[in-house]
Amino acid sequence: MEKEFISIKKAFEKKGLVSVRGWIKRKRDLKEKIFLLLRDETGEIQCIIEPEKIDKKEFEKLSKQSIEASVELTGKLKEDSRAPSGFELMAEELKLIGESINFPIQKDLSEEFLLDVRHLWMRSSKMQAIMKIRSTLMYAVREFYKKENYFECSPAMITPNACEGGTTLFPLKYFGKERYLSQSGQMYLEVMIFALGKVFGLTPSFRAEKSKTARHLTEYWHLEGECAWMNMDDQMHEIEKMVSFVCQKIAEENPEELKVLGRDLADLKAIRTPFAKMSYDEALEILEKKYKKKIPWGIDLSIKEEKILSQDEKIPFFIYGYPTKIKAFYAKEMPDSKKCYSFDLIGPEGYGELCTGGQREDINENMLKKLKKEKIPLENYQWYLDLRKYGSVPHSGFGIGIERLLRWICKLDSIKDTIPFPRTLNRSYP
Ligand code: 4AD
Ligand code: MG
Repeated sequence: MEKEFISIKKAFEKKGLVSVRGWIKRKRDLKEKIFLLLRDETGEIQCIIEPEKIDKKEFEKLSKQSIEASVELTGKLKEDSRAPSGFELMAEELKLIGESINFPIQKDLSEEFLLDVRHLWMRSSKMQAIMKIRSTLMYAVREFYKKENYFECSPAMITPNACEGGTTLFPLKYFGKERYLSQSGQMYLEVMIFALGKVFGLTPSFRAEKSKTARHLTEYWHLEGECAWMNMDDQMHEIEKMVSFVCQKIAEENPEELKVLGRDLADLKAIRTPFAKMSYDEALEILEKKYKKKIPWGIDLSIKEEKILSQDEKIPFFIYGYPTKIKAFYAKEMPDSKKCYSFDLIGPEGYGELCTGGQREDINENMLKKLKKEKIPLENYQWYLDLRKYGSVPHSGFGIGIERLLRWICKLDSIKDTIPFPRTLNRSYP
């Protein structure tokens, strides 16, 4: 009869005689038996292999393997209070499927080395936990927007114009024309609201970032939303609801993984709306009064200042009403034109900027003036200006870096661990 393999998690539920398969996470060779810790995507099981109980050749092959060889095992589960799960599998049949001799990850666990062998390090408990949480997050975001009646849209990734300024654009030779990899799908999402009202996109974005920081990648996943008829306050409310929803989902679905990463479940459960909101002016005041740090009005808050402001916080918060001159050309100015309806969502515990958003300039003349003032060549923005010419409406939107959000949720030092294959100034392999 064909053997029926079940997951390790199911094996613990079924008990009795089971067949499981997976990879060797730990191995201890004694003369009379081999102890294995076998893992799959659902759990880990301690296994005991005794030579007299299984095929001799298979036993010999197994004894030559290092960790990460793949095997199929059939055996009986036996209660054992010393095993972490309370059970051990006593092997009756064993088959080596994929050998692994001298698995390269042994002692050297330096960051650079682990990035060189990322394709193998992905199997570690840490990466496995992060990737499971990442998957929950991607599903949760879509679930949230479906529930809130947004439409998912797919903006172009090859674009004729910059959205977030020229300095971080990746140029692309495009059949004799200069084109760029998308920095943001925002402008295309703005197009979509005229047909669909509320939209979101979940796409890669590309930034030729030359700075080496714990929060910058050159390729990241960008969750962006755009909504007709919404102002800045409406938009901040949409975002706090989404972030809270995602945190509750992860707390519900990934308690084990959060434990591996050292993130307390209660931290995520506490992420409830409304989030605190402070103006840029108030942020400067707090920096000066509480932290004795004077920032001249009009200067953008740096990573350092965001860290200071957020280090003692437990819940993300918004800073809004930034100076117009430090925000992008599309931000709508407040009646006092020195400030604009733009906000950042700041991650707590020192994590800093998670999201930028705001109300968009919806009046054609103002947009034209802005583009000219910033010396942005108009020819590639005609389509964008058309949106202001034909049935323009007040609207607002946001962009949040999935990896920034994950870095905070998973309590990680570096953003590089939040994405399977991080791309940075010095890293584009494997
Ligand atoms: O603040 P940014 O540049 O804003 C925009 O792109 C807007 N067009 C978004 C919008 O309104 N639709 O980027 C938005 C977010 C940041 O807050 C950050 O979370 C993330 O994208 N981000 C990065 N994440 C990783 N690596 C980078 N180099 C990032 N640059 C931005
Ligand atoms: Mg920003």
